[in-house]
Amino acid sequence: MSDKKLSTEDILAQIRGGGAPTPASDAAEDSPAPAPVEEAAPEAPATASAPAPAASGPAPTSTTDIMAAIRGGGGGAAAGAPPAAAAAAAAAPAASGPAPSGTANILASIRGGGAGAPAAAPAAAAAKPKAAAPVDTAKAAGMSAAEMIKAARAGVARSNPETGAPEQPPKKVVLPAKPLKKKAGASDRREFLAGAIGVLLSPVVWAWGSLVAATTASGLAMARFMMPNVLVEPPTKFKIGPPTDYGAGTVSTKWKAQFGVWIVNDEIDGQQMIYALSTVCTHLGCTPNWLEGEQKFKCPCHGSGFYKTGINFEGPAPRPLERHGISLAADGMLEVDKSVKFQRELGQWDIAASFVPV
Ligand code: FES
Repeated sequence: MSDKKLSTEDILAQIRGGGAPTPASDAAEDSPAPAPVEEAAPEAPATASAPAPAASGPAPTSTTDIMAAIRGGGGGAAAGAPPAAAAAAAAAPAASGPAPSGTANILASIRGGGAGAPAAAPAAAAAKPKAAAPVDTAKAAGMSAAEMIKAARAGVARSNPETGAPEQPPKKVVLPAKPLKKKAGASDRREFLAGAIGVLLSPVVWAWGSLVAATTASGLAMARFMMPNVLVEPPTKFKIGPPTDYGAGTVSTKWKAQFGVWIVNDEIDGQQMIYALSTVCTHLGCTPNWLEGEQKFKCPCHGSGFYKTGINFEGPAPRPLERHGISLAADGMLEVDKSVKFQRELGQWDIAASFVPV
């Protein structure tokens, strides 16, 4: 017998044809595989003589009928199955026991030797217990023959051809969840600010910062110490132009801001003269203003008032304004010397250096 197995279509075609070889079976006729089926047909009447004459009706064509005839054993097959199928089905139980129930078992018994080798049918069925299980389950579920054949094929296909054990479905590889990429957001900024504040408040940073600040201050102080203390002041002697620039009875404020003096051309005790009045109030040192309309000097700090001559007449000022030295230079220009002061209460206004007669 060859190892080549008949397909289900070939087996069913042979059964439908009542033993006549199909093209597919013709191709396999040369091999000894289909021989048991071909030989089972003539032997069937010998073992099942009663049903054989009754098997003269039309041969079953559908797969369901064929499978029902096979499952029904010798008695069932004798009613409607063709002689070859009935004989094949009847020969198996007669030789080894009850007919196979599952489609896979039936097909296995036919492939394994058919009616010509009755003992091989249970052996073939027992050789593939794993494949028969799903078919029996399908039968119990009321599946049709075609569905049971498909189920049997599927069961065989999923089983290991060497051991017959069903192959385990491939395990799913569960990949670890891909970590979500964090977006730069408010939480990152908060972490950054918290870290920056922590660094700024650390004692080490404060210690180093204090050291750097102290070192910098010491360096600046040393640099200032190396520089001389020079007071930059305006010159004490300066020329203010010719006497003709100052008209009789006028008070010039031209040099108030620059040199702190008023140049007055006034008549005192019947003598017309030019003198330089200090702009420093004799009360507390404020700078009074010349009020042309009132012809007086008025201190804005405490209200002291002074005449054009410089004599105080109102307010807290205790004494008259002071005069600076003035002279007529060789070039005909008036020259003021602020290093010299003349006080009326001391009788110094009579000194010639305190005025220039005009
Ligand atoms: Fe001039 Fe007091 S400072 S009135």
